Parts: sequence; structure tokens; C-alpha cells
Amino acid sequence: MTKGDRGHFATKFGVLMATVGSAVGLGNIWRFPYQMGMNGGAAFLIVYILAVFLVGIPAMVAEFIIGRESHKNTVDAFNAVAPGTHWNLLGYLGVITGGIISCYYCVVVGWTLYYLYISASNSLVGYSPEQYNAIFNHFVVNPYIPTLFLVLVIVITGVIVSRGVQNGIERMSKIMMPMLFILLIALGINSCMMPNAFQGLKFMFVYDASKLTFDGAMDAIGQAFYSLSLGMGCLITYSSYFKDNVNLPKTASQIAIVDLLVAVLSGIMIFPALFSLGMQPDEGAGLVFKVLPSVFSQMALGSVWAVMFYVLLFIAALTSFMSLYEVIISFVVEKFNITRVRACIIMSAIFAVMGIVNSLSFGVLSDLTIFGNSIFDTFDYLSTTILLPFGGIFTSLFVGWRLDRKVINTQLNINSPFKFKAIKVYIFFLRFIIPIAILTMFVFSIIN
Ligand code: PHE
Repeated sequence: MTKGDRGHFATKFGVLMATVGSAVGLGNIWRFPYQMGMNGGAAFLIVYILAVFLVGIPAMVAEFIIGRESHKNTVDAFNAVAPGTHWNLLGYLGVITGGIISCYYCVVVGWTLYYLYISASNSLVGYSPEQYNAIFNHFVVNPYIPTLFLVLVIVITGVIVSRGVQNGIERMSKIMMPMLFILLIALGINSCMMPNAFQGLKFMFVYDASKLTFDGAMDAIGQAFYSLSLGMGCLITYSSYFKDNVNLPKTASQIAIVDLLVAVLSGIMIFPALFSLGMQPDEGAGLVFKVLPSVFSQMALGSVWAVMFYVLLFIAALTSFMSLYEVIISFVVEKFNITRVRACIIMSAIFAVMGIVNSLSFGVLSDLTIFGNSIFDTFDYLSTTILLPFGGIFTSLFVGWRLDRKVINTQLNINSPFKFKAIKVYIFFLRFIIPIAILTMFVFSIIN
């Protein structure tokens, strides 16, 4: 790639898969089930679905408009569409939020790689649920093994991202995402066939109003932003690589629906099995790692399923982690005018140090807490429940109030089979519905 040529995603399918690759990740398969488990099941799911459709899709289109209009990294994108203003602070905020997420995301990707390793070496199946609990609990407090795996993850990601968007990111996503989807369906069916599985389905789908709290609703909104990779300029960065034939509202809707399906499928894969095994849904961050091995153990050819699952989970996590990286790398490369490779080396070193601190917060650094929360939980909460929705509000306000309507109109209508007529409704959403919805939850959950 020559200087000045930023690269782009080659095909529409590639665009979709790379962006789905960013969206679908640990957020769907690791974070969604445990958040849902801690926040009362169906009640959480309903707010989550509302958040995806009423807030997520419009906010995603807003990021796409900024990205494709400017074809720039997230900071310069704001400089380009609102020159001479301070809106670029929003771009900086995105880079910072992405950095914070990266610091703990790599830890969980490392866990995934470790589970892949033990399943491939055939030492994951054949234990009892209690033993799986103990295996996970021992693993995360160990000062060395998780560290080793997270450093490996950072090196792998750094190498792929340094190769640029088309060779690295797009190619990986195109093959792996469809495979993941098929495997999730198979595992979901299997989980539903376990004894007492309907208890899990009931937990997921039978609404109980008494379980809905403002905190839970705020978590659901935060989770929607997290899962859709919104609120931190990631989709601004990705859409800056979109060609001018991609229809933005259609692409956003497709991504959001696939992402939602993967989250719900992950729930179906976990909860029926969990209730069948007599475990509790509010296990927290270890949920998926504690429940799934038992599921595999009960399946014929369990270790084969386990390896396939962890390979795909690892890839899904990696494609998301790559997108977090890409936000920061594209900014660093274009801001400081250094090569991608050099930017990747510098950022990898920083992530490694911060990742290790986060990882150790389960063990030797567990006494180090911020307002009673571990470092890991603080990074997660601060970025997901606070900074992402905050970034989302301001991006919506920016596009709704500040961005030239002609730009919005043009971007929405590119390659559209019909003229996008709902522009007034869309702008109303950006100006009022999204900011007010998020703010209300925010205020109530703080008061609570
Ligand atoms: N959406 C990713 C996931 O679900 C996480 C992510 C968040 C990626 C923000 C990029 C930006 O795992």
C-alpha cells in the first residue's frame, strides 16, 4: 500500500463480514450471557432488543455517515466533517475508550486461547461441573499462564493488523463468521436437548417485570453499544474503508440483526445447559468458561466440538479485537505519520503491559480495588456502561444537530433501491430519542 492510499474493503460481502467480525465477538458469546444472567434473564433481553433497534441501528448509521463521508480515522473524521470545531474531542474519546476496552479484552481473548489449547490437548472433557468451576478459578488467579496467553494474543493481533485491512481483517472475517454461526446453532440445539432444558429457555424468554432494574436497563444499553462496537469510533474507522457502493442503512440493519441473533443463540447455548446442570445464572465473568465444558463433556465426540467451538470463539474474539486495534492504529499512523508496523509494535507493547495488570487483578492484584471493584471490572464498567453510551449520545447529537443535512441525505441514499424518505424521522431519533433514552437510564441508575 502506498502512502496516502488508506486501503479499503474489497467487496460488499467483505464489508459486511469485516463489520460483523467487529461486532460479533466476546461481547455476544462471553459478555451477553453473563450480563443477562446477572440481570434477570428475559427482562434484560427485552431492553436489549429495544436498545438494538431504537438506539443501536440509528447510532450505527450515524457513525457510518461520518466515516464514509470523511474516509479518515476517527479523530480526523470529525476534523473533516466539522473543521475548526472541538467535535474532534469525540474522536479522541473514542481512541481512549478503545484503548481501555483493549486492555481487558485481550485478557479474555487469552482465556479463550487457553481453553482452545487445553481442549486441543484433550484435557477439557470428562470432569464434573464443580471441577470445571475449580479449573477456571485456579486458572485466572495464576500469575503466569493467563499472562502468557494474553501476550500471545497481542502478538497475533498486532501481526494481522499490521498487514492492513484487506489482507488481514477482511480475509479472516469472510471465512470464519459463517462457520461460527453454524456451530452456534448446533450447540444451541444440543443444549436444548439436555434434561430440564426448558428452565433455561423460560429464564431467557418468559418476562418477569419484577426483575427489571434501572441498573439492569443501563447495563443492557451499554451491552448493546459494546456488542455493536458503537460509541467509540470503531465503526467510523471501519466505514472509512467502505467503498461508495455500500448502502448504509441496509448494512447497519444486517449487522445489528446478525449480532443480535448470535447473542440470543449464545444464550440458548448456555442457559438451558446451565439450568440442566443445576448451576446459577449469576456466575459473572466466568460463566461461559464454567458451563460450556460440561456441555461438551456430555456430547458424543465432545472434545471435537470443544476444539471447533474454541477455534471459532477465538477467531470471533480476534476479529473484534482487531477492530479495536484498528481504531487506534489508524489514528496513530495518520496522526504521527509512522508506518503501520511501527504503530503496531508500540501499541502492542502498551496493551501487553496494561493487559497484564488487568489479568493480575484476578489474582495477585485482587486487593487493589477502585470503589470496591477490581481493576478488570472497573475498566469494563467505565468503558462499557459509561464511556460507550456517552460517546453514542454525542455522536448522535453531532449528526443530528451539526452535520450538514445534504451530507446525511447523500450518504443515506447511496446505492439505495428507493429514496430514503424517513430522513426527518431519522434526525428526530438522533436529536431526541437516542440522547434522552440513554440519559434517562443513566440518571436513574446513578440515583439508584
Ligand atoms: N463488539 C465487540 C464484541 O462484541 C467488542 C468491541 C467493542 C469491538 C467496541 C470494537 C469496539 O466483542
